[in-house]
Amino acid sequence: MLKLVFLSFLLLILTCNASVQDFCVADLMGPESPSGYTCKSPANVTATDFVFTGFRKAGNTTNIINAAVSPAFDAQFPGLNGLGVSIARLDLAPGGVIPMHTHPGASEVLLVVQGSIVTGFISSANQVYVKKLLKGDVMIFPQGLLHFQINGGGRTAVAFASFGSPNPGLQITDFALFGNKLSSALVEKTTFLDDAQVKKLKSVLGGSG
Ligand SMILES: *[C@@H]1O[C@H](CO)[C@@H](O)[C@H](O)[C@H]1NC(C)=O
Ligand SMILES: *[C@@H]1O[C@H](CO)[C@@H](O)[C@H](O)[C@H]1NC(C)=O
Repeated sequence: MLKLVFLSFLLLILTCNASVQDFCVADLMGPESPSGYTCKSPANVTATDFVFTGFRKAGNTTNIINAAVSPAFDAQFPGLNGLGVSIARLDLAPGGVIPMHTHPGASEVLLVVQGSIVTGFISSANQVYVKKLLKGDVMIFPQGLLHFQINGGGRTAVAFASFGSPNPGLQITDFALFGNKLSSALVEKTTFLDDAQVKKLKSVLGGSG
């Protein structure tokens, strides 16, 4: 009798273990919510879902900022959906800059793997924390704070940024302010810039109004 109880207990533990959700690979066809995507059926999950190969090539830095951010967030890397982490590759050509930006959803750890990068963030108290990072150096950027990266030398710099969220978000301040359709009059009021400056920035950054 005791043996039977023990065996049933063991069976219960084993079935419980089998039903544990180890992962929730994103079903990119399904709806997306602030907590991520719905899960793909485990029967359809393969090793490929847990591998991202998009960092083999450098990002295209032929653009206005001479830099590229290649994200491996949940939308690009379904396997990390729901797991609380993600990663991005940064390429900065000489003179390249990742302009002032925030990730509303996560803190960031930046690791420089080539060249050097001048980077920093601004706290809520408007204190500035800036450093020149060399290859192998790491800096942390607290969640939601404005920060930037600038190529610190004459050669291409490469870094990887990891985040404490599968979807940290990215809002580049200049584009948010001037790449939009808010009327120039309101942008002038809210930024204290004059009409000519606002119109110039809107035309450079793709805004209108
Ligand atoms: C697995 O994928 C196939 C092909 O996309 C689909 O037809 C099938 O319904 C999926 N299975 C489950 C259990 O979702
Ligand atoms: C990089 O982007 C520029 C501008 O969009 C484009 O002209 C060029 O072909 C791209 N280079 C590569 C290698 O994709």
